[in-house]
Amino acid sequence: MDDLIFLGIESSCDDTAAAIVTGDRRILSNVVASQTELHADFGGVVPEIAARAHAERLDLVVEQALAQAGLGLGDLSGVAVTAGPGLIGGVMAGVMCAKGIAAGAGLPLVGVNHLAGHALTPRLTDGVDFPYLMLLVSGGHCQFLMAHGPEDFTRLGGTIDDAPGEAFDKLAKLMALPQPGGPHVEAEAALGDPHRFDLPRPLLDRQGCDLSFSGLKTAALRQRDALIAEAGGLRAADRRDLCAAFQRAVTEVLAEKSRRALAESGAPLLAVAGGVAANGPIRAALQEVAARAGAGFLAPPLRLCTDNGAMIAWAGIELYRAGRRDGMDLSARPRWPLDQGAVPMLGGGRKGAKA
Ligand code: KG4
Ligand code: ZN
Repeated sequence: MDDLIFLGIESSCDDTAAAIVTGDRRILSNVVASQTELHADFGGVVPEIAARAHAERLDLVVEQALAQAGLGLGDLSGVAVTAGPGLIGGVMAGVMCAKGIAAGAGLPLVGVNHLAGHALTPRLTDGVDFPYLMLLVSGGHCQFLMAHGPEDFTRLGGTIDDAPGEAFDKLAKLMALPQPGGPHVEAEAALGDPHRFDLPRPLLDRQGCDLSFSGLKTAALRQRDALIAEAGGLRAADRRDLCAAFQRAVTEVLAEKSRRALAESGAPLLAVAGGVAANGPIRAALQEVAARAGAGFLAPPLRLCTDNGAMIAWAGIELYRAGRRDGMDLSARPRWPLDQGAVPMLGGGRKGAKA
């Protein structure tokens, strides 16, 4: 089944994406239309605006993905689409688009869990074998997943409140830095002293792989307010030092919890995905943790770490190979845990819109 060619459609948050991927792991096209500018004035993704923009743009990105691959619908072996979790309006728009194409062109349809798309990406980029440990760190998610098969994931732990990307974004807001905040906080932190302020390391004293980031953000807020009260404003050096302290705390927590997850699972490889994996010091710390545990380390290229259609097409191929076919009754699921057996986390570990 190496000659499979799948169209993958992704519309669960604020990226409208379509891609064409082959069974022998070639990405023939990967089109992403970002909606960042549509939501910029609102300080977050507005679900209604997102859903409408997806509905308007889906046809166009699918057309572009086919054109860039130099293929027509008749060349495809199947259509894969994100069927959840995510913002329901966007997911529905994607599922309807995929159903229309599948029905019109007489193609098999495969509904994909968005998180499985992220979690299976190392197999697309590097042909990694099961099992492996996946750390998903994005604006909306933070969890350790053991990947045993295309539909077989065990959740080892995750955040009980904010996701790290969300925490970076909130800190950026506190520091009057632009959104999305992660890259700006990283740039400030590179110039700061990470040891001047001592921020907490939430949940480090608790056993296991669960994480928490909201207390860290609150501590940073208190520190900022103390500095402002003292100096009448936030000086550039204070901002840099606070960003550096924050990044150091997040890095240490992620590194220690990854060390535990590797020890607990005995996984031969640690893979990371999500926008936060773009952070240099975090990536370096995780790589070191993996090396110390005698495990491999893999961080896919950033455009495949963040939301995209190629990961959905690939997950669709893997599921199709495993025998999965969906009918016209495929429905959009706003909540859809990957590990169905895992105990639900407090607050679902998901407050941001993105996954
Ligand atoms: O994976 P992603 O593009 O979207 C989803 O959340 O699905 O991740 C975006 C998140 C944002 O919160 C952003 O601030 C964070 O990833 N991020 C970073 C960096 N680059 C992006 N966080 C820390 N350091 C970075 N360099
Ligand atoms: Zn995602």
